[in-house]
Amino acid sequence: MKKPGSHDSPGMGGGKPKAEGARIRRPGGAVLPLDPEVERWFAAVGAAFPASRSSIIPMLQSAQASLGYLPRDAMQAIARHLKVSPVTLEGVASFYAQFRFDKPGRHRVTVCRGTACYVRGSSKLMDDIQADLKVAAGGTTADGEVTLEAVSCFGACALAPVVVVDGTVNGRVSSASLKALVDAAGQHPQPQPGRRTKAGA
Ligand code: FES
Repeated sequence: MKKPGSHDSPGMGGGKPKAEGARIRRPGGAVLPLDPEVERWFAAVGAAFPASRSSIIPMLQSAQASLGYLPRDAMQAIARHLKVSPVTLEGVASFYAQFRFDKPGRHRVTVCRGTACYVRGSSKLMDDIQADLKVAAGGTTADGEVTLEAVSCFGACALAPVVVVDGTVNGRVSSASLKALVDAAGQHPQPQPGRRTKAGA
């Protein structure tokens, strides 16, 4: 997963741009508006957080919950609001696996690689879905449709091997049923909210 400082354009760890309210000063002096989605989140929610370091995690969580990930502009706005250095904020966010810095696909497929699932064939599941989607675990398909991830355990080991697709827990998954699940998810315009459990998918 790319970290904020690894974005191609000037970012947190690179040219040290400065956020100015709803704007960001880029290296070289150009002042550009924040990404509109980030600006909307900041105006509606972000600006209400107390401007102290204790707000770092809650504010990062809020931004990610609203935006789906932590884009560079959101990191800039948070750093400025909390009066912490971009490097400090990046360091904190990078420490926690819950935060992501790349835009996720419209659908999210998470394969469990825990012991129980491994014993029941999750490695082959992952190999097959990677080959089918042409993307490695941790990445998003070129068309932006599917983000493929791995976790160490969902806590549903009795259903192993387990794969979560757009929040739905699917147990006893085979490569064929996983492909069918992913194809079916692609028929829906948006991921289904919430988490449901379905055994013998
Ligand atoms: S090891 Fe896969 S759900 Fe626990």
